[in-house]
Amino acid sequence: MPQVKFLGHSCVTITEGEHKLIIDPFLSDNPKAPVKASDVDVNYVLLTHGHGDHVGDAIAIAKRNKATVIANFELANLCAGEGAQIHPMHIGGSHKFDFGRVKLTIAHHGGGYGADASRYTGPPCGFLITIGGATIYHSGDTGLFYDMKLIGEMNRIDLAFLPIGDNFTMGVDDAVKAVEFLSPAKVVPFHYDTWDIIAEDPKNFADRVKGAEVFILKPGEGLTL
Ligand code: NI
Ligand code: MN
Repeated sequence: MPQVKFLGHSCVTITEGEHKLIIDPFLSDNPKAPVKASDVDVNYVLLTHGHGDHVGDAIAIAKRNKATVIANFELANLCAGEGAQIHPMHIGGSHKFDFGRVKLTIAHHGGGYGADASRYTGPPCGFLITIGGATIYHSGDTGLFYDMKLIGEMNRIDLAFLPIGDNFTMGVDDAVKAVEFLSPAKVVPFHYDTWDIIAEDPKNFADRVKGAEVFILKPGEGLTL
């Protein structure tokens, strides 16, 4: 039974026995992060795209833990250039790791590393992660897209993480539609309230979602699938 924990913004950890994954570890520069990057103990670091609020502490965490960075080819190679161990992938591709399977899905967003996002990191992605018999979808930063319906048709999603903060990603209206397309059993909203520009009351989302159980997690909270 994988255990999932929300560490603020888009950062999620997934633990299943000895297998420990972290996605988009934006911790040091997130005042709402409940843990320090130096306390993170993982085997894998998954990155959805090159923006600073997602790559965050990834390279330091990967190097200290000798963990493998899983990301698209361009972003993975950027991390390798900084000294991290990598497993490059690309959109539509899946790979079976020791913990389970990861598939990269499309996301409609940008990609670029550095203060001005000028270092090329390829297109953004989402992840479908199958671990311990559960399928978890982490959309990354994205707008609503109709292929979410296809992702929902082809996968029995136990838990979906979706952005609701608007401005840079889907807002509540589109995230409610995304749940309809994906039909996950459970959904956790994220990428809101980190800054004023993405302020949102997650109850506005929870009240309108139909057919899925919504978990509003505070940073540091989690659930077992
Ligand atoms: Ni972004
Ligand atoms: Mn973001």
